[in-house]
Amino acid sequence: MPKIIALAGKGGVGKTTISALLIKYLTEKGLTPILAVDADANTNLNELLGLKIDTTIGQIRKELKGEMPPNMTRDQYMEMKVHQALVEATGFDLMAMGQPDGPGCYCAANQHLAMTMDHLAGNYKYILVDNEAGMEHLSRMNLRDIDYLIVVSDPSARGIMTAKRIAELTGPLGIRIKKKCLIVNRVPEPASEEMLAKIDEAVQSTDLPLGGLLPASNELVAQEITGKSYLQLDAEVLVVHKAFAIFDALLN
Ligand SMILES: Nc1ncnc2c1ncn2[C@@H]1O[C@H](COP(=O)(O)OP(=O)(O)OP(=O)(O)O)[C@@H](O)[C@H]1O
Ligand SMILES: [Mg+2]
Repeated sequence: MPKIIALAGKGGVGKTTISALLIKYLTEKGLTPILAVDADANTNLNELLGLKIDTTIGQIRKELKGEMPPNMTRDQYMEMKVHQALVEATGFDLMAMGQPDGPGCYCAANQHLAMTMDHLAGNYKYILVDNEAGMEHLSRMNLRDIDYLIVVSDPSARGIMTAKRIAELTGPLGIRIKKKCLIVNRVPEPASEEMLAKIDEAVQSTDLPLGGLLPASNELVAQEITGKSYLQLDAEVLVVHKAFAIFDALLN
C-alpha cells in the first residue's frame, strides 16, 4: 500500500511550494514511484514542476455524466480517462483534480472516481496530495487514512492558530491521521530571537508537533518568476536544505 502525504493550510501559506520540494526530495531519494495530486481547483503545482496539464479529473467527471462510448462500462471509461489525465515525469506522475462538483456532491461520478483512485493507488509508493484550504477532496478520493499530514503556516501567532484549526478539520471528515507536523514557512532570514520565541510560544499552544521552520527565500521567488522547475533548485539553497532535513525527520 502507498504511503499518503497530504498538505493543508490556509490560502497562500506555501502548500504548493512545499509539495514541489517534497516531490524533489522523494524523487532524489529514490522513494518512487510517486503520484502527485494537485487538489486545488486552480491547478498550479504543475507550473512549479515545469509540466503541462491537458485534462483534469473535473473535466473527466463532466464527460462521465454524458453519453458513454459504445462497448464500454462507465468504470472502464473512467479508468481509461484517468490514465490519459496522468502526466508522466521521471519518478512521478501528476494528476490535477480541477473544478469540483457542487459542495457535498457524492454523486455516481464521484463514486467511480473513488474506485478508480483505489485501483490506481496500488501502483505507487507515495501519494502526495496538495490541497486547497479545505480538505473535501481527500474524502472524495476515498483517502480516509493519511500517513502524514503536513500543515503549513505563516510565522504569525494567528497563522499558527489557524493551522491548528485546519488540522482539526480532518476529524469531522472521518479522515484518520497517523502522523502530523507543522511547518512554519516564510520565516524572515535571519530571524530575531524575539520572533523565534514568539513562534515557539504559538507552536507550544497547539498540539501540532513542529516539523521545522522554512526561511523566506529569494531563490524560490526567482525560480517562480523565471518559470524554472523547482526540481532543478540547487541542494545548497537554504530553503531546500532545511526542507529536506524536515522531510528526513518526518518520513523516517
Ligand atoms: N519560503 C518561501 N519563500 C519565498 N516565497 C515563498 C515561500 N513559500 C511560498 N512562497 C511564495 O508564496 C506564494 C504562495 O505560495 P504557494 O502557492 O506555495 O501557497 P499555497 O498555500 O499553495 O497557496 P494556495 O492556497 O493559493 O494554493 C508563491 O508565490 C510562492 O512562491
Ligand atoms: Mg497551492
